[in-house]
Amino acid sequence: MNNGKNGGEPVVRAEDIRKVYRLGKIEVEALRGVDLVIEPGEYVAIMGPSGSGKSTLMHIIGCLDSPTGGEYWLDGEQVSELRGRRLARIRNHKVGFVFQNFNLLSRVDIVENAALPLRYTGGISRRQRRERARTVLDQLGLSDRLQHKPDELSGGERQRVAIARALVNDPAMLLADEPTGNLDSDTSREILKVFRDLHSRGHTIVVVTHDSNVASEAGRVVRLTDGRVHS
Ligand SMILES: Nc1ncnc2c1ncn2[C@@H]1O[C@H](COP(=O)(O)OP(=O)(O)O)[C@@H](O)[C@H]1O
Ligand SMILES: [Mg+2]
Repeated sequence: MNNGKNGGEPVVRAEDIRKVYRLGKIEVEALRGVDLVIEPGEYVAIMGPSGSGKSTLMHIIGCLDSPTGGEYWLDGEQVSELRGRRLARIRNHKVGFVFQNFNLLSRVDIVENAALPLRYTGGISRRQRRERARTVLDQLGLSDRLQHKPDELSGGERQRVAIARALVNDPAMLLADEPTGNLDSDTSREILKVFRDLHSRGHTIVVVTHDSNVASEAGRVVRLTDGRVHS
């Protein structure tokens, strides 16, 4: 848990973020001046209709993409000017991603899956990586599944593996895009409980969702319409 590592800085500070996609001569203004501050330990839901810019905003705050305007500080570091490898490095250190379709590797066991982000940090042996992954999988109640491959697990267990992988690097923020989108309602509740527990332990969580049950768990809802935040 590295919340507050950068002494009182917000985890997310985005000012007047703009994103224009250019498709030949056509320009799409996906974000039209978004301001967003997320403090350490907050649980925030980002909601909005299809096409409102949720994924674009998530990609920018998760350092998967860069804005075409505005400024962005992640955990106190100015990242809006960064591109390529330097952006990837910050992303790998500071953001843990959880996706709707889990994005797990089917050929390897869940320890290897959860350990994956540690490969890119360097300076850690394979044994240490697996040890760290086992610790996080244990915290997520998966210690009796360590030899299993993703296909041998339930949907809820797979999503817990994905959450373990997101946490293994001790990120400043957990960023989840429709994390319950592929789960039935019982399993969704199970995953929401995992998020609730992580939040109570101080993790910063940002969830992009169109599901009001998911959003109702968050401490704050940020609503996007046509690339702008309203309320
Ligand atoms: N790679 C892209 N190239 C061009 N237009 C895009 C691209 N990604 C998204 N858009 C457009 O930007 C707007 C916002 O999209 P998006 O962020 O995916 O919204 P949401 O996730 O809320 O559905 C939409 O009009 C969409 O068509
Ligand atoms: Mg989207």
